[in-house]
Amino acid sequence: MEHVITDLTYHGKGDKLSQKHGTESEGTMQQFISNSETETEQLGRRLAAALPQTAVICLYGELGAGKTAFVRGLAEGMGLDCTVSSPTFTIVNEYLGNRDLIHFDMYRLGSADELFDIGWEDYLKRKAVLVVEWSENVQDAFDGSEICIHFKKLSDTVRLITLEGITLC
Ligand SMILES: Nc1ncnc2c1ncn2[C@@H]1O[C@H](COP(=O)(O)OP(=O)(O)OP(=O)(O)O)[C@@H](O)[C@H]1O
Ligand SMILES: [Mg+2]
Repeated sequence: MEHVITDLTYHGKGDKLSQKHGTESEGTMQQFISNSETETEQLGRRLAAALPQTAVICLYGELGAGKTAFVRGLAEGMGLDCTVSSPTFTIVNEYLGNRDLIHFDMYRLGSADELFDIGWEDYLKRKAVLVVEWSENVQDAFDGSEICIHFKKLSDTVRLITLEGITLC
């Protein structure tokens, strides 16, 4: 099982880490170390348990960082019986059930405009969880209210996973 290495308070999105508390723009950043694909899936399941009915989850990180593994766990945790794979060519996969999960892969997109062209604003109106791989390619589509998760490869099998915008207990 992954373990929390730290809980850090940050000011706004992308600002420097700080130990101060109490202003509106602050949030908590949690960092986890995953030692296997299975542990990354487990973290996805944990997030599913903490999510509201609707949410936008932005995933960041290089090829093979573990984004899709995480989404697989997320789908399982949401009670969805589906096969999850990166929708690199189709751009979007919908996994429908008691709770709906809509899985985007922005790897081939060049800008947020292309995401709006495929109906991003209509997806936002759905009562669903939207999860976006390669969010860095469409950053302008986001308004700052999203849950952000960064994946960093530390070795062949170890990943540093940083969550912002939600706290897992
Ligand atoms: N701790 C780990 N967590 C997740 N995946 C891991 C881990 N260690 C090794 N792996 C391997 O890394 C790969 C992760 O693949 P995955 O498809 O989830 O990455 P991705 O970030 O979605 O890549 P892409 O940008 O190509 O869609 C898998 O082959 C998996 O077995
Ligand atoms: Mg992927």
